[in-house]
Parts: sequence; structure tokens; C-alpha cells
Amino acid sequence: MSNPKDDLRRMKEEYAARKERLQNSDRYSPSNPAYQFLMHQREKQIQRLLESTGWVDLAESQVLEIGCGKGEVLEIFQRFGVPESRLYGIDLLHERVKKAGLSLPGSSLANADAQSLPFATQAFDVLLQFTAFSSVLDAQVKQTMAGEMLRVLKDDGVILWYDFWWNPYNKQTRGIRPSEIKQLFPQCDTQIRKITLAPPIVRILIPKLPRVAKWLEGLTVLNSHYLALIRKKA
Ligand SMILES: C[S@@+](CC[C@H](N)C(=O)[O-])C[C@H]1O[C@@H](n2cnc3c(N)ncnc32)[C@H](O)[C@@H]1O
Repeated sequence: MSNPKDDLRRMKEEYAARKERLQNSDRYSPSNPAYQFLMHQREKQIQRLLESTGWVDLAESQVLEIGCGKGEVLEIFQRFGVPESRLYGIDLLHERVKKAGLSLPGSSLANADAQSLPFATQAFDVLLQFTAFSSVLDAQVKQTMAGEMLRVLKDDGVILWYDFWWNPYNKQTRGIRPSEIKQLFPQCDTQIRKITLAPPIVRILIPKLPRVAKWLEGLTVLNSHYLALIRKKA
């Protein structure tokens, strides 16, 4: 992919096509038990990781999600105690930002490109990136996004990263492994955990064998995502 603009155009087209494809699917519906399992397990892992750092003052934190989509991840942080007015989100897709605004009317949500964040340097305590980077194929776009995240992050702030490393079914995305995460954020300390039992396996197991799904996830071998906590080195 030689032109970053082409990559962003491709991504917008892919999201429009995906919306069509999933029109009659309940795969991402809150009433789908497999989706519930995936979301519940992920939230537990995020909480554990944040607690393990001893860093819990979320009520006073300014939190920004890049690629916030419809705002579901920002809502997790609202449940964790971040006031709505301290939650910020940006996304390339106007329609998604509008939807996020319906559930988070008191938050600051904007239609923007993460390569050029409309915020001051060192404005945020927490930066979130949840499956935005894997939808970008162009290496230069990803590097620019990472640089912007570091710019707006306070020196003692944290980046929370959640993205998959392998998805053979979707050629419009590219999984990201720990070595690439470390390359994107040089001069940072990075704590990484492999979480989330691969969703196709969850969809098979949850209706009949939910305990097996939990057990398998604990083994981590079939887990498809990395959850990382990234901090600037002192
Ligand atoms: C798979 S969705 C995830 C949405 C949300 N983070 C979540 O987990 O529910 C990825 C989102 O990243 C957004 N995105 C990708 N590249 C972006 C960029 N350069 N600037 C802003 N948003 C971007 C897409 O528009 C899309 O809404």
C-alpha cells in the first residue's frame, strides 16, 4: 500500500460493506451469549491489568480513545468510574461518532483522523486503542498514529492497547504481534497479555460448553488478542 490516503479510503469502503454484510446478523448484539462472554471476559482482564499497576485514579483521568467507533469501549471506562465529561473519542467514520454520542451525550466525540489528533500535547492520562490499528494496512499510517498517541499522552500516562494478532478470515485487516507493538512505541515499557479465546471457537462452545470456553481461554494458546499496557520510559 503506497499511499496512506488510499488506505483510509479502502478502510471506509470496507466498513460500509461490512455494515451491509452484518445487517441481519446478531453476532455483535448484546443479547448474543457468545458476544456477552467475549465482552465480559475482556472487561475482567482490563480491570485486572489496571489494578495490577496499582494505578486506579480513573475518576480524575482524562481518557481518549482513538478509533472509538460507536463508543462501547468508552462506556467500559465510564463503568470503571471515569466521568462522562472526561471521556473523549475520535473516529474516521462520522456515522459511528454520531452513534457514540447517543450513549455518551456528555462526552467529547469528534470525527477526526488519528494521524492528526485535534488535542494539545500531553492532554491525556489514558489513551485507548481497541482494534483500530489492525484495520490499517499501511505501515506509515500506523506509525504516524502511534506518534500522535505519544504526543497527546502525559509523561506519566498509559496507553491501553487491545487488538488481535491473527485473523485469517479477514484480508481487510492485519493482525499485530508484540514485536510490532514495541516497534510502534519505541522508548516505552510494555506489559503484554494474550487474552480473548478466538471468537469462532467461542461461538461454537458457548451454547453447550461454556465452562470449556473459560478453561481454554485460561490456557491462552488459542487466544486471538493482545492486551497491552504501554508507558513512556521515565
Ligand atoms: C474495529 S473498529 C473498533 C471500534 C471501537 N474501538 C471498539 O472496539 O468498539 C475500528 C475503528 O477504528 C477506526 N479507525 C481506523 N483508523 C482510524 C484513523 N486513522 N483515525 C480514526 N479512526 C480510525 C475505524 O473507523 C473504526 O471505527
